[in-house]
Amino acid sequence: MKTRTLSLIGVAAIACAMLVASGAMLHRAHAQMQPPPVGTPDAKLIEKGEYLAKAADCAGCHTAPPGGPSGKEPLHKSAPFAGGLPMGSPFGTIYSSNITPDPVAGIGRYSYEDFERAVRDGVAPDDRRLYPAMPYPSFAKINDDDMHALYAYFMRGVAPVSTPAPRTKLPFPFNQRWALMFWSFAFAPDDVFVPQSKRSPQWNRGAYLVQSLGHCGACHTPRGPAYEERGYDEHSGRYLTGGTNDHWFAPNLTGDKGSGLGRVSEDEIASFLRSGHGAGLVTFGSMVQVVEDSTQYLSDDDLHAIAHYLKSLPAREPYGHFDDRSHAAVQTVRAMNTGDVELPGAGIYQSFCARCHKADGMGEALKYPRLAGNPAVLGAKVDSLVRLMIEGGEAPHTQTGIEAKKMPSFAGKLTDTEMARVLTFVRNTWGNQASPVTGREVEGVRKSLGK
Ligand code: HEC
Ligand code: HEC
Ligand code: HEC
Repeated sequence: MKTRTLSLIGVAAIACAMLVASGAMLHRAHAQMQPPPVGTPDAKLIEKGEYLAKAADCAGCHTAPPGGPSGKEPLHKSAPFAGGLPMGSPFGTIYSSNITPDPVAGIGRYSYEDFERAVRDGVAPDDRRLYPAMPYPSFAKINDDDMHALYAYFMRGVAPVSTPAPRTKLPFPFNQRWALMFWSFAFAPDDVFVPQSKRSPQWNRGAYLVQSLGHCGACHTPRGPAYEERGYDEHSGRYLTGGTNDHWFAPNLTGDKGSGLGRVSEDEIASFLRSGHGAGLVTFGSMVQVVEDSTQYLSDDDLHAIAHYLKSLPAREPYGHFDDRSHAAVQTVRAMNTGDVELPGAGIYQSFCARCHKADGMGEALKYPRLAGNPAVLGAKVDSLVRLMIEGGEAPHTQTGIEAKKMPSFAGKLTDTEMARVLTFVRNTWGNQASPVTGREVEGVRKSLGK
């Protein structure tokens, strides 16, 4: 009884303090909303913040899909940064916050220190611990200059939106946000990125962008039992070796020649990040959003720095093989071209896939990805391939003007067993070599997608 009363008094005191403070801050936030004249140092800082917000894809997570958080509100144009994007986690749906400078619904009352603490440590000003769906373990590495630019942009370069984001309601015990304190303590790094003097400036820039703002590891690094990423830089053996989120498998980005980037050049990686096309691959799944909202806007120098850093990662967790000169590869290409192949799945491929991906699996430049030697096709996990077959997909729309081609959904056309067969075929033809896909795996993904 005693502790309860005490804490009630505590809550009342905090609430009073917040009211007093918020009154003062409201005033300040409004005073700050005037945009500074073009060309001034202030305007440049805001512009820099805008670029960094793109590199970090703040809008990608903090903007609701068209139709609002429910997707069903007819004329609702989702305002950028107003939050409400539903994000699936193993514990339930988490909604992103409104981070526009509105003093009530958004973060207009945040001081710089509040902002930095939320973005780096995942703690909101009311001491509310944020779920790691917000990638603060990566953002902890953002340097002070960049953090100031981001703050300037969010306070003065973004339009306030007074609609609050929906509340996240996870079941017990995941609704006990305070417990995330222990999670952060155990798993989240809290050091700003430190450049390595033995490496080139380009390498350091790439490492910084990948590890901090780009939070590439949030998808591409496998997670442990407590949803923690297995490493936050190249010193960890599992860093960027492939991870699954929401049934999208983000492939191995180390130098593995099978399912990694070992056979993809720096220029091709940069092009993939700019336009969604590179080395005959086409972005699909959750990477489409990353290219559309974030990487397409990065400068050439930054894209090449990222590619340079990725290419420096030694091959780890190798998986799958590609050898287009093997006897079997030459045989299948010849047989596919003349149309007589006995392999299970070959008939399905000829009827449903060859139109776009071609009999020799080479696809069509800037239209359809090649499947021969495609590292994403050779991945250790097949979730992405199965999900793409079930839902279909569309290449990213970018400012490069390349037309975004679609892959149809095969949910109504092929059974689970047929999808498994054609994927097994694709993973083992033209010199590709990776484990077969089973009907049970397809069924598993389809059921958990509710399709
Ligand atoms: C991968 C998705 C993702 C990205 C990228 C992301 N956020 Fe978040 N952010 C979230 C989610 C989800 C929450 C809500 C977490 C919760 O409720 O515990 C959140 C919460 C926040 C909050 C706390 C607001 C509050 O008071 O509730 C701030 C501030 C914030 N994000 C700022 C940013 C900024 C700035 C960026 C870009 C540098 C960014 N976020 C990028 C997902 C993301
Ligand atoms: C939201 C999750 C997510 C984030 C964040 C993300 N990726 Fe990806 N990425 C994926 C998925 C899923 C794929 C597989 C689909 C494809 O190949 O387009 C992928 C594919 C790729 C590929 C092609 C790999 C291959 O073998 O085909 C590259 C290169 C890549 N990502 C780089 C990056 C970089 C660099 C970043 C950080 C700036 C990043 N990704 C951030 C999900 C993500
Ligand atoms: C109408 C043309 C078309 C047909 C038919 C088609 N695809 Fe695709 N496929 C695409 C496009 C376009 C993409 C890129 C999708 C994206 O960006 O979301 C793609 C992507 C893929 C990928 C991911 C590789 C990558 O790098 O993007 C795989 C695997 C794949 N298709 C397999 C198949 C299989 C198997 C079939 C037959 C059952 C098939 N496709 C039929 C157009 C097609």
